[in-house]
Amino acid sequence: MSQALTCNTCGERTELKPDTVCPSCFNPLEITYDYDTIGGQLDAEQIAGRSASMWRYAELLPEVNGGAPDTPVGWTPLIRARRLGKALNMPNLYIKNDAVNFPSLSFKDRVVSVALAKAVDFGFRTVGCASTGNLANALGAQATMLGLRSVILIPHDLEQQKISASACYNTQVVKVNGTYDDVNRLCTELTYRENMGIVNVNLRPFYSEGSKTVGFEIAEQLGWRLPDQVVVPMAGGSLISKVGKAFGELVQVGLVREKQAAIFGAQATGCAPIAALVKSRGEELTPVKPDTVVKSLSIGAPADGHRAARTIRSSGGWAEDVSDEEAVAAISLLAETEGIFTEAAGGVTVAVTQKLLKLGKLDQEAVTVICITGNGLKTADLVAHRTERLPVIEPKYSSYTTLVNQKETAYAGTV
Ligand SMILES: Cc1ncc(COP(=O)(O)O)c(C=O)c1O
Ligand SMILES: [Zn+2]
Repeated sequence: MSQALTCNTCGERTELKPDTVCPSCFNPLEITYDYDTIGGQLDAEQIAGRSASMWRYAELLPEVNGGAPDTPVGWTPLIRARRLGKALNMPNLYIKNDAVNFPSLSFKDRVVSVALAKAVDFGFRTVGCASTGNLANALGAQATMLGLRSVILIPHDLEQQKISASACYNTQVVKVNGTYDDVNRLCTELTYRENMGIVNVNLRPFYSEGSKTVGFEIAEQLGWRLPDQVVVPMAGGSLISKVGKAFGELVQVGLVREKQAAIFGAQATGCAPIAALVKSRGEELTPVKPDTVVKSLSIGAPADGHRAARTIRSSGGWAEDVSDEEAVAAISLLAETEGIFTEAAGGVTVAVTQKLLKLGKLDQEAVTVICITGNGLKTADLVAHRTERLPVIEPKYSSYTTLVNQKETAYAGTV
């Protein structure tokens, strides 16, 4: 078996199948690879000649019958963030911009690409997800592209923009009167009672591998080197754990030189169980009831919370949380400096970066990558206050000059 579902705890290995927990000790299963063989066969030049998609790292993703999908998901820009860097006094700052991921404008397109490829392999006719919004958009779009029947289960109170986009695809949207954690429990029951491939439940080991491609791309786009520091938003804690796994794998297969990349986690204060665990320096994760406008990160009982905390601690990183006000202000800061419009999760990530700087946890000079994981059009209401006092003028040149000659206009930026 060149790839296996392996138990992190007892080491038991089984073939790839839709399963998430070890039959012997009930701990999570994880896909493992034959790194020696991959390292002997794969080099940077080969990868450079491949398609501009996350599947350029196919050897380090679950193997798919019939070959890697040709949907151009991933390979999003890594931007040298000079203006934000100047505002934060960080001369070596970069942004990994998954706000422009194909097809649904968030990093969740990556996890869905892997999960649905495997769902087809395993013969599922119906796929589904429990979602805080972005996953719903990604699943709706890609299930439609593949002609799969799909069901999207979401908390009833998500942002209207995310619900509208999901409802437009060829999918069934089910609003649930409860939190994400209630939705997740219902989805777990569905996998027992219905023959469904739920991407973040019974397909989770495959789904989560898709997140590694954020880490692979960052390294390749930096010229095959690891950053010194990376700041990652956390909900279930999967993305940050898999960025850590990706960095480790690149070292193992010899694509980058070994280096300790410090991994930092970002949450909203109204739902920060993983940040709290890291800050407690203990082992106890206390689930919370989310109370924040940052819906995409509102997971009160994170499935990979412990793993995320381990990833952060072992890398020499840290985790912080910020208020909703700080997150919303940071959406504007990023847009004003870099021309990147992010959803609430990106606001949290930028604001946490500012906080970590203030606390002295981040090295100001180091090569630092901020992961922007979703598009601002999805949470545009959060910044609607920026349009409230926009003036309307008569369609006359004199009205225009009167307005622009006023020094203090409502739309003058804050940077
Ligand atoms: C935009 C965005 N960023 C980050 C995350 C966090 O991902 P994870 O659940 O893997 O921690 C999510 C999860 O829904 C998200 O929607
Ligand atoms: Zn086990």
